[in-house]
Amino acid sequence: MKRKISILGSTGSIGRQALEVIEKLNDKFEIIALTGGRNITLLNEQIKKFKPKYAYAENPKDIEGAKYATLEDICSNTENDIILVAVSGKIGLKPTLTAINNGIDIALANKETLVMAGEIVMPLAKTKGVKIIPVDSEHCAIHQCIKDITMVDRLIITASGGPFLRKSIEDMKNATVEQALAHPRWNMGKKITVDSATLMNKGLEVIEAHHLFGMDYDRINVVVHPQSIVHSAIEYIDGSVIAQLGLPSMHIPIQYAITYPERFEGIKSRSFSFSEIARLDFEEPDWDKFKALRIAYDAGKIGGSATVCLNAANEEAVYAFLEGRIKLFDIINIVEDTMANHKVIKNPSIEEIFDIDNEIRIKTKEKFISKV
Ligand SMILES: NC(=O)c1ccc[n+]([C@@H]2O[C@H](COP(=O)([O-])OP(=O)(O)OC[C@H]3O[C@@H](n4cnc5c(N)ncnc54)[C@H](OP(=O)(O)O)[C@@H]3O)[C@@H](O)[C@H]2O)c1
Repeated sequence: MKRKISILGSTGSIGRQALEVIEKLNDKFEIIALTGGRNITLLNEQIKKFKPKYAYAENPKDIEGAKYATLEDICSNTENDIILVAVSGKIGLKPTLTAINNGIDIALANKETLVMAGEIVMPLAKTKGVKIIPVDSEHCAIHQCIKDITMVDRLIITASGGPFLRKSIEDMKNATVEQALAHPRWNMGKKITVDSATLMNKGLEVIEAHHLFGMDYDRINVVVHPQSIVHSAIEYIDGSVIAQLGLPSMHIPIQYAITYPERFEGIKSRSFSFSEIARLDFEEPDWDKFKALRIAYDAGKIGGSATVCLNAANEEAVYAFLEGRIKLFDIINIVEDTMANHKVIKNPSIEEIFDIDNEIRIKTKEKFISKV
């Protein structure tokens, strides 16, 4: 039987690679819906090729060859066996909750969903018997390593270090958008690429791991590994360390997530060879240069609305940086300042999360307007 799937964000970096995986495994999947935002040319090409019943675009009139449906409609459609949530930013949260409420399994790329509302999303998924399979390569690695979570002592999340790993703080302060987008290992959407340059992405991943695997922050470590071959590891209480390795390709974790628990022959550019790789390096993160990582850990430990604040301030500041309105380091200063002034609400409801998110975005925008 074909697995019925919808892809939210099919025109993005993860979405496009997911369609490459599905094309390779075309006898295993039937696509129910594809969604884009503004890239209507690509969305219509995808509709023509993969023939989904439904599609979403910012402007419904632009869709050719499929019925218009909102992200919420798509996630309410119980024809779906699984939904790949690969939109970027806060827009992933509501549709994910809708899909969970409808008992549909989730392949989750959109880490902001768990950063904003992990305390609501994970228990809800458990109650509804819904699987949340991580797409992020680090969490996918951990998911593959864990047999019995109760025996795991700590999670070790690897970080490539991004384009500024060997640059000074001064270089980073004066970085252009082009330099921040020049990631040495991964070709991703702009928002996550900037987050990878500041290491905020790693901080968001730590929070994501905390929710996905129910692990205390003190037992989640980050290690810099520039080659991006070891995608993450776990240490069991007896000292055994299990890591997952592979060439840096998002096809592998995407395929793992959408075919779980089965495995099929995948898209491989070449076979894995230890001798070709020859060496693997690991080092401590530079906590001064990558202050974002510390800020994210702190937000995670505070919990409640602190991570909503972190995510909203960061997202708005990253967009302002991409528009050339602020400098790279301003992102972190703005997030830090916003966090310092945020009055944390413990256990916020979903409505409160969206209210806080809105409020923080408005306040953040005011901050960078004063910088222009
Ligand atoms: N890229 C990676 O390798 C990677 C790895 C791990 C995790 N992730 C996570 O996966 C998510 C997606 O990342 P990405 O790199 O694929 O992002 P991306 O390339 O920027 O793609 C984002 C997708 O979301 C759509 N979108 C944007 N705004 C929208 C809106 N208002 N309404 C509906 N759709 C909208 C975009 O449509 P249009 O382009 O048509 O406007 C596009 O399809 C992020 O949460 C990221 O953190 C990504």
